[in-house]
Amino acid sequence: VAAPGQLDFAVNVIPGGPPGWLRAELLAALNRAVSYPDEGPAIAAIAERHRRDPGEVLPTNGSAEAFWLLASVLRPARSVVVHPTFTEPEVALRVAGHAVQRSYRRPDSFALDPGAVPDDADLVVVGNPNNPTGNLDRADQVAGLARPGRVLLVDEAFIEFTGDEAQSLAGRGDLPGLVVVRSLTKLWALPGVRAGYLLCAPDLAATLRAARQPWSVNTVACAALAACAGDRITASRVAERVTAARQELAGALGGLPGVRVWPSAANFLLLQVPEGPAVRSGLAERGVAVRPADSFPGLGPDHLRIAVRSPEDNRRLVAALGEVLR
Ligand SMILES: Cc1ncc(COP(=O)(O)O)c(C=O)c1O
Repeated sequence: VAAPGQLDFAVNVIPGGPPGWLRAELLAALNRAVSYPDEGPAIAAIAERHRRDPGEVLPTNGSAEAFWLLASVLRPARSVVVHPTFTEPEVALRVAGHAVQRSYRRPDSFALDPGAVPDDADLVVVGNPNNPTGNLDRADQVAGLARPGRVLLVDEAFIEFTGDEAQSLAGRGDLPGLVVVRSLTKLWALPGVRAGYLLCAPDLAATLRAARQPWSVNTVACAALAACAGDRITASRVAERVTAARQELAGALGGLPGVRVWPSAANFLLLQVPEGPAVRSGLAERGVAVRPADSFPGLGPDHLRIAVRSPEDNRRLVAALGEVLR
């Protein structure tokens, strides 16, 4: 969304790139690129981190690959995506020829409404924390959607921003049909490396593994997966920094006339402003790009998603928005 030179509040990846030690790991991995990728160390590290069996771990070429892979392998009779949410899983399902039904979060709070998910859905997709609303739903509520005969796909691409990950289902090998998807893109600032993974029952993992292109996760991505799974300190520091910046930003935005801010557990905030398109162009004229949120089913032209950046950048956004609204 951002034009060159604009301050980019549209993309929801941590600004500034990955930490130096991780860059060094990635560069060192290039020396191993003379051989085909070896996922073994990444699988072992991820399994240990989530206390899962290695047979329940599948590295993916970004978490997006998980959505496309599942869409190509599963044969759901009734797929339901819980909106407003990241649209890629729905796109992947439709491209694979599946009809997709939309279920919606609660209209005002955007909290998960388990009762709105049809009982006979045999594939349910839900984000936690959810993009773009920022909701963090309780693990027991999300887990309550799992049942025999249903695949429950929980997209946890942003869960590391919640610090202790208490609401994650990544460790739940006991829930029937659960697939948890994770990404290194957001918190680790690695969108170009394409590193993610999924956790699910070993039989489904084996089916997905067999349906994959060979070596779809490259050597650099494998190195990133192994290194990040083993480092909880960086993740919790980033989460703390983002939480503090988000609280300050949400407070300042909430003080602007006509602006509604939803509480968020991630590195972005959903806003509603009067006359969204005019606000967006006013911000663009001031060198600030924000993400229009009307492409998310259930949201409209007055909804905008903004990333949490550094406190200085955030203050620039608040000042620009204040000017535009005046
Ligand atoms: C909620 C959510 N899940 C998954 C992804 C995909 O991330 P990646 O494929 O880079 O891991 C995104 C990217 O925007 C996202 O917002």
